[in-house]
Amino acid sequence: MRFVLVTTNKGKASEFSEIFREYGFNFRIEPMATPEIQEDDLRKIARYSVLYAYKVLREPVLVEDAGLFIKALNGFPGPYSSYVYETIGVEGILKLMEGVVRRDARFESALAFYSPLTELKIFTGAVEGSISEEPRGRGGFGFDPIFIPDGSVKTFAEMSLEEKNRFSHRARAARKFAEWFKTLKTLPPIYQD
Ligand code: IMP
Repeated sequence: MRFVLVTTNKGKASEFSEIFREYGFNFRIEPMATPEIQEDDLRKIARYSVLYAYKVLREPVLVEDAGLFIKALNGFPGPYSSYVYETIGVEGILKLMEGVVRRDARFESALAFYSPLTELKIFTGAVEGSISEEPRGRGGFGFDPIFIPDGSVKTFAEMSLEEKNRFSHRARAARKFAEWFKTLKTLPPIYQD
């Protein structure tokens, strides 16, 4: 089965592509913006977006919603991460974290897939880590310069794409999706396109 990965974020697109190429999947990327409803749960946001994308594209679709949850800020910015990134940005988060010693944070990813054959499927991934004292690195996107995953001393922005994919929330969700999706290849040809 072919599918469409819907995202306007080039960083996300490259991270997913690296993993899906490993699996030899037949997919294309559609840089279409989908509505992001206000919800606490990333899975509900991804679910709404994927159903919207399917209604427009009428092909099997995959959509991700992700967020950064900072413990000392009671989970902020969480589902509002893209809005917060565009408004106060990395510097704004570092300001809110001034003087905070416990800097634990977690990135979460919720992936939603929809096709008429499989209906709706959700896959999640998370990575624990901490917020750095200052931005470091030039790679990646979004909050990558201030997030250090547990098990590394580097921020995501100091890592290569391959290295980030060994740790990231997105890669974890993507691999769960990929392991499930590859089993669909065993369907009778009548279901394959
Ligand atoms: P979205 O709503 O899924 O597009 O993502 C929400 C926001 O979270 C993005 O705009 C980024 O600022 C941030 N974000 C999500 N995933 C990552 C990541 O892997 N690295 C850095 N920032 C991320």
